Amino acid sequence: CLCLFMSVENASTINVHPELYVDTSRGDKLKINIDIMFPHMPCAYLSIDAMDVAGEQQLDVEHNLFKQRLDKDLKPVTLEAEKHELGMADDGEVFDPSTLDPNRCESCYGAETEDLKCCNTCDDVREAYRRRGWAFKSADTIEQCKREGFTHKMQEQKNEGCQVYGFLEVNKVAGNFHFAPGKSFQQSHVHVHDLQSFGLDNINMTHLIKHLSFGKDYPGIVNPLDETDVTAPQASMMYQYFVKIVPTIYVKTDGEVVKTNQFSVTRHEKVANGLIGDQGLPGVFVLYELSPMMVKFTEKHRSFTHFLTGVCAIIGGVFTVAGLIDSLIYHSARVIQKKIELGKAS
Ligand SMILES: *[C@@H]1O[C@H](CO)[C@@H](O)[C@H](O)[C@H]1NC(C)=O
Repeated sequence: CLCLFMSVENASTINVHPELYVDTSRGDKLKINIDIMFPHMPCAYLSIDAMDVAGEQQLDVEHNLFKQRLDKDLKPVTLEAEKHELGMADDGEVFDPSTLDPNRCESCYGAETEDLKCCNTCDDVREAYRRRGWAFKSADTIEQCKREGFTHKMQEQKNEGCQVYGFLEVNKVAGNFHFAPGKSFQQSHVHVHDLQSFGLDNINMTHLIKHLSFGKDYPGIVNPLDETDVTAPQASMMYQYFVKIVPTIYVKTDGEVVKTNQFSVTRHEKVANGLIGDQGLPGVFVLYELSPMMVKFTEKHRSFTHFLTGVCAIIGGVFTVAGLIDSLIYHSARVIQKKIELGKAS
């Protein structure tokens, strides 16, 4: 019986000791795991950027991000998600034919004929190629098709949403990453997004953060942003998540060491009507900072002596309480007995 008791004790009594240190580790990378859904932001519009504390775009960020098109019911549209490069919405502008010179004469890429000297649309180029008997293969390299193709893509995805998932690996310094509509670029050292192509009124930044963490999980970790569902009450909202990252080491009883991070977060939101960086850009921004303090959790089995002390305390306690009850019953019995005897005498 005692043996059974002990084995149960052993299995269930892993204590976790927290300790606090100043974080002196250097040169580590920070892995950011992302899984976030935008029900009203088509993938073709959405660009993802990561910048560090210097305000520079991080081009050497190790990343592996995917964009998955979603339909109205948040079901995937395509079988495979598309790998996403940082800092880019899909290349191309939304094409409005009325902005082009109606008297223009664009190249047919060598397929010009007497009666078809200008190819102003993708179809013209296709036709010119057909007349020449050439194979029309690489539409991607033909300017006319590129701009129309992109417009087509935008039209096609108009009512869709987008899910972004994967990870970023950044330098372990403060920085930010964001999800915002439009192609981003640097303009006199300011980060701007090209939003000309879609009106600010149409930007619905409703989002659902399925998962966001900064490193591996350990038993009992709390990622406070998981399953955060935010509905944008107005168009063109800017959401800022201010994240404080606490480096954390978790040492398991078998000696395995998990180096990871916990974080705390506060959210700020406003209506963005500018198009320039910090002055307000519609989108979801995550600004992170690193705490100088580090937490170390160490799993420890409760020792045998500790267990023995516990058992002794319980046994001792049982005896004491039993003794108390016993004397209580004995004394009250005697009092009652005495009363009865007195009653008889009188
Ligand atoms: C954005 O979409 C949600 C539905 O998911 C809706 O409740 C909300 O009103 C929309 N916001 C705007 C500004 O259109």
